[in-house]
Amino acid sequence: MADDPISSGEPGRRKKVYIETVGCQMNLLDSELVIARLRDEGYELTTDIDQADTILYNTCSVRQHAEDKTYSALGRIKHIKKRRPEVAVGVLGCMAQKDQGAILRRAPHVDVIIGPGQIGRVPELLEKAKAEGAPQLALSLARTAGSRETISASFEGYDPDREPAMRPSPFQAFVRVMMGCDKFCTYCIVPSVRGPEQSRPPAAIVAEARQLAAQGVKEITLLGQTVNSYKFREGDGRTTRLSDLLYALDEIPGVERIKFITSFPNDMTDDLLQAVRDLPTASRYIHVPAQSGCDEVLRRMKRMYSSSFYEEMLARMKETIPGVAVSSDFIVGFCGESEESFERTVGLVERSRFKNSFIFKYSRRQGTRADALFPDDVPEEVKKRRNNDLLAIQTAISLEDNRRLIGTTDVVLVEGPSRSTARREGWDGMSQWMGRTACDRIVVFEGSEGLAGRFVRVSIEDASAVTLFGRVSAEDRAGIPA
Ligand code: 5AD
Ligand code: SF4
Repeated sequence: MADDPISSGEPGRRKKVYIETVGCQMNLLDSELVIARLRDEGYELTTDIDQADTILYNTCSVRQHAEDKTYSALGRIKHIKKRRPEVAVGVLGCMAQKDQGAILRRAPHVDVIIGPGQIGRVPELLEKAKAEGAPQLALSLARTAGSRETISASFEGYDPDREPAMRPSPFQAFVRVMMGCDKFCTYCIVPSVRGPEQSRPPAAIVAEARQLAAQGVKEITLLGQTVNSYKFREGDGRTTRLSDLLYALDEIPGVERIKFITSFPNDMTDDLLQAVRDLPTASRYIHVPAQSGCDEVLRRMKRMYSSSFYEEMLARMKETIPGVAVSSDFIVGFCGESEESFERTVGLVERSRFKNSFIFKYSRRQGTRADALFPDDVPEEVKKRRNNDLLAIQTAISLEDNRRLIGTTDVVLVEGPSRSTARREGWDGMSQWMGRTACDRIVVFEGSEGLAGRFVRVSIEDASAVTLFGRVSAEDRAGIPA
């Protein structure tokens, strides 16, 4: 427990914490949990950095761009720290684990540096930094620093009881099922900064989901770096797979939709696909990154599959789960990627008809095998061009497939007011709301507060590459206050 949640100087004023989060859903979840914990300790959340007594950055190391964002944010707050030295500054997450020394050198005004495997210690270390007047570091062991058990133990799980007020949405929640990654794709820093793959006990996951459902959560997204590799062995030798977990979660009253991200192609087993097909709660949406369509590149990436294996897996998915929506990630400009290699990726994207693809330019990461073994030899302009070209191809496919949905009706979980500026012509734009279908398609429609958190039927009337536009059925609108 922090013993002084009240700021000195102004009696009765609660300490204020400001947080910025970069990166993946795992980071969003960690930030939610950290803030919930600090609120327990008497802090209140502020969105105004100038009002904050504690400024936190939850960081990402997956590409250089993400790191640059954090370093410039740290640079911008130097003046705050100069004016008010009592303000505490913290760097959390993957960059903290990877670059503690560099952070202290480049931003000596940082008070705490806490890796993703130590995130539960934020309040304690903020207090300690204040008491001792010296920066505090909490990091897990490097992947080469000892036995697998000791390294794993140094990446501690942090999945405390959840606070409804802290969730970005009252009826949606992330639940961690795994930590870390053991795939060691050669370009990727994640296995170093998030540690060995560790699956959480199913009983803990189910208990957390029950608690969330009791709080009104209807949609749960299970998180893991390679979520479909989830496997938990009980003392008696029984093994729980992701498919078993889906069956267990399906039984929880109140949980109406379950998603899981991100999947690894080699672990897309039939039991999982059948569970998605058979369970009414399982979202017919699977995010399974291909990364490249060229076998030679895939080999250098150490993805452990070929492009034909990936395509066969896709065919199996589409056959088992009618109407499944699939999304992918691609890295363009990886070491040694020739024009011909890139064309193979283009071919894969053209044939696969993903719902959407996230496309990234290769960013060399110090400490990865790719960085040690291969020169980063694709020029930046070429990476940029390939990125734009691939994105244009994917966008055209997404648009075409979305337009095919015009005239159909689908069930949407209403999330909230639409932030998108996309406007369908002729709309008054007074109350545009958004939600998602079971296939994770974004739908924008005219709505009102009373629809939030409900499942409604929406007829699709128009489409862009990323958004469907529709109308809520008269029955579902009836009786709901405007
Ligand atoms: N450079 C560019 N993209 C990367 N990714 C992971 N590491 C790198 C890197 N070094 C991408 C992969 C992964 C996604 C989360 O980020 O496509 O699936
Ligand atoms: Fe990184 Fe590969 Fe693990 Fe994904 S599977 S987190 S890309 S090492």
